[in-house]
Parts: sequence; C-alpha cells; structure tokens
Amino acid sequence: MKKLTLLLAAAGLSMAAGTAFAEDCAYNAESPFDLEQSEVEALYDCVKDAMAEGYAKQGDAVGSEYRTWTVTATAAAVQGAHSKRALLTFANDIAAEQYLKFEEEGVVMPVGSVLAKESVSFSKKKKTARPGPLFIMTKVAAGEAPETNDWVYGGLQPNGKPMKFKQAFCHDCHTAWEDQDYLAYPVEEVRIGN
Ligand code: HEC
Repeated sequence: MKKLTLLLAAAGLSMAAGTAFAEDCAYNAESPFDLEQSEVEALYDCVKDAMAEGYAKQGDAVGSEYRTWTVTATAAAVQGAHSKRALLTFANDIAAEQYLKFEEEGVVMPVGSVLAKESVSFSKKKKTARPGPLFIMTKVAAGEAPETNDWVYGGLQPNGKPMKFKQAFCHDCHTAWEDQDYLAYPVEEVRIGN
C-alpha cells in the first residue's frame, strides 16, 4: 500500500512539473541576450513539451501539426524583433525546400506555404522561461490578401487560443524583407546547413 501511495505521489509530482514550467525553467542572466546559446537550448528543452501541448490544446490544425514539419534551425535562438524571445521556425512540406535555401533575392514562396514559429518568453522579474505565442505565416493565392502581399499572419497563444492583432502590425515589420518574400529567416548562426 505504501508503495502505491508513493507511486501516486510521484505521478502527481511529475504531472505538476509538466504544468509548473514557470517555476522550473529558471535562468540567471540579466537579460535573455546575455544567455549563452547552450543555456537558451536548455531552457527550450525545459519548456518544449508543455509548449507543443499548449498550442495543440484547442485543436488548431497548425498548432497540432507543426512539430512534424521541417525544422529550419539547429536550435532555438534569441532574436530581438519578436520581443526578445527565443525562436524556432518550422516549415510545412510546401514551404520547406524554398525556405531552407535562405535566398536573399527574388524569392517567391509557393502558395500553401506555412511557417510556424515557436517562441519562448522570458520573465525578467521571475527569471524564468515559459512558452510564448506560436507565430504563423500562410501564403495565399495572388490577390487574396492584397494588403499584405499574399501573406496571412496568424498566431496562437500558449494555451492554443488564437491571438488577435491587425495584419499590418506584423506586415509593417516583415516588409523589410520584401526581396525574401517577406521572410526574415532565423539568425544565421542556427540556420540549417549553415
Ligand atoms: C518588429 C519586427 C517584427 C514584427 C512586428 C513581426 N515580426 Fe515576424 N519576424 C521578424 C524577424 C526578425 C523574424 C526572424 C526571427 C528569427 O527566426 O530569428 C521573424 C520571423 C517570423 C516568422 C518565421 C518566418 C520568417 O519570416 O522567417 C513568422 C511565421 C513570423 N515572423 C510571424 C509574425 C507574426 C504573425 C507577426 C505579428 C503578430 C510578426 N511576425 C510580427 C520580425 C517581426
């Protein structure tokens, strides 16, 4: 009987650990930019299971599938533009071949391309890492999204619910990469094949 109680307690504890990532995934640096790449990777490992579970929670197709897609970087890395988060982008089958060339000019992504970018958020106060939003870009047929050059921007909160924002909020920044079909690509150090 005692053994069983212990087993149950152990199971309960590990279940709690699965959701209590905010306490678990602690870091020491002043800013996420000061973290060593190896530390970023350890924090990513710490949150990654809870992260994928969360994005899939509401049954969103991209949120449930993207982990089976092609990963475009060797590891998550910290990037400034998406609010000092650690990022890791996945490309669906339609997007992967062209995306992984990381071409800088004349890029035209095929219609149906989807890029899904995981993010790890850092709490400056608590010095912990936790799942951030999943950022999504979908290439639609010419003329379907004329104001955003045929890209539709989407996002899921860490609990799998859709994020609300204006398309222009995302696109105004992504227009900086017009020659790359509005794609910014992962930081060079972690690009696949680099
Ligand atoms: C201030 C500039 C900025 C804004 C605003 C911004 N992005 Fe990005 N985005 C970037 C940069 C820089 C990258 C490349 C980051 C990396 O992976 O290291 C990127 C990458 C991405 C990617 C991966 C595909 C790629 O470009 O290589 C997706 C998907 C994405 N962003 C979606 C969004 C969505 C959705 C929004 C709006 C909610 C948004 N972005 C707002 C700068 C921005």
